[in-house]
Amino acid sequence: MSQESLKKEAARAAMEFVHNVSIIGVGTGSTVNHFIDCLADVRHELDGAVSSSEASTQRLKKLGIPVLELNQAGDLDIYVDGADEINGNLQMIKGGGGALTREKIIAAASKKFICIADSSKKVNLLGRFPLPIEVIPMARSFVARQLFKLGGQPMWRENFVTDNGNQILDVHNLEILEPIHLEQAINNIPGVVTVGLFADRGADIALLAKEGGVEKLTL
Ligand code: 5RP
Repeated sequence: MSQESLKKEAARAAMEFVHNVSIIGVGTGSTVNHFIDCLADVRHELDGAVSSSEASTQRLKKLGIPVLELNQAGDLDIYVDGADEINGNLQMIKGGGGALTREKIIAAASKKFICIADSSKKVNLLGRFPLPIEVIPMARSFVARQLFKLGGQPMWRENFVTDNGNQILDVHNLEILEPIHLEQAINNIPGVVTVGLFADRGADIALLAKEGGVEKLTL
């Protein structure tokens, strides 16, 4: 089975959580795109979705699913999103698509975070995937120097601007032994908007598709 087909299987598996949900939180990325396509079949059951990116918003609207502001919606029952890496504690690296800030906000405002991915995203130790960090543009070099001191090699994601008008540093060569500690340390650097480590608030359920079925992980 191709990686794309596995992503579709993970997305389909998340549909069992959508029943009796009126407003759903929707992440960003190629796996979530499959999930949005599945949502189209149950759009009559939904009041709408809160979206984590302009890209997901466009896709939702095209399929006739109303997109609501988080400020209107209040707390959400579920949030469905992908991941770049996920460990056994359901802590994740996210932000490969650059939507990490809105993703983190919606995740925090949701009772249940359901991570959908193909099983290649499952790792023992987070950090092989470069850790994305959204920064205020004027602070980019300063933040990069602090990240270097923490042992990483930050690279500016050039020619990319986030939906919030900020920039991304992708930090290479981090071995993330203590994800919550590192998340807090990076959050404390002035100029950091969001770090793509979702450790303090990880996923509640992971649906990881592999040959032969979808593995469901919970804590
Ligand atoms: C976007 C994300 C995505 O969830 C992550 O990059 C995974 O994407 P994909 O489903 O395309 O593999 O965090 O900011």
